[in-house]
Amino acid sequence: MDWGMKNRLSKIIRPETGRTVMLAVDHGYFLGPTTGLQSPGKTVEPLIPYADTLMLTRGVLRSCVDAATNIPIVLRVSGGTSILGNLADEGTTVSMKDALRLNVAGVALSIFVGSELERKTLLALADLVNEAEEFGVPVLAVTAVGKDMVRDARYLGLACRIAAELGAHLVKTYYCDDFEKVVRNCPVPVVIAGGKKIPEKEAIELSYNAVTRGAVGVDMGRNIFQSDNPVSMIRTVREIVHKDLKPAQAWDMFTTLAHENKEKAFA
Ligand code: R5P
Repeated sequence: MDWGMKNRLSKIIRPETGRTVMLAVDHGYFLGPTTGLQSPGKTVEPLIPYADTLMLTRGVLRSCVDAATNIPIVLRVSGGTSILGNLADEGTTVSMKDALRLNVAGVALSIFVGSELERKTLLALADLVNEAEEFGVPVLAVTAVGKDMVRDARYLGLACRIAAELGAHLVKTYYCDDFEKVVRNCPVPVVIAGGKKIPEKEAIELSYNAVTRGAVGVDMGRNIFQSDNPVSMIRTVREIVHKDLKPAQAWDMFTTLAHENKEKAFA
């Protein structure tokens, strides 16, 4: 692996712990004005100090994030569909040249294993890896799941392994029963998405279970920015990811912080 690739990867996965807290705020690329992200700049600003990377689209990066902000960016470079259409029918939306101009630490693209467009999305991943390798840019493959797909270890394990085989440097998937198997069978680091908003206590347990069962961290969005206490939430998730804080202590930490900070939910 060349120096540039290693250097960028070390900006995503912290070398001190081998873990990462990625803050995902790319949802608008197919969901439009997602709850909590109506003003993405306002939402992310207080969260950035506690995130290792920010995952978002080119448009939101350019228009809502101060260029002087010193946070590594993982840029979503796939899209072209909306919640109203066929989500699997994505294409690549950002050139590598523009991603480099935006000084990204990595690029992210979704694959839709099991969909009728599986081949197209997998070949798009392979193409992106080919191009990214040329410039030393890590690729995060996002294992997207359709509404009718079971999020079990067999399916997620299949999707993660294929992403790794095609050259992804990092894979994002969902937590599931037998998650250790998914990680064991995937030769590159795995992070978990948080999924739909669930109570904070459950999201804390989810984060703990994921990292203690082999994930290198989280790429979490809604369970942070849709919390009534997003800063308290990301600070707590950070302690879990980087210090293996146990769920009971993490819950104490969250409730204490939330009480002290009296945060306002983002409108
Ligand atoms: C979905 O495809 C997006 O890439 C999100 O970044 C991802 O799902 C993580 O966000 P959340 O934790 O809200 O699921």
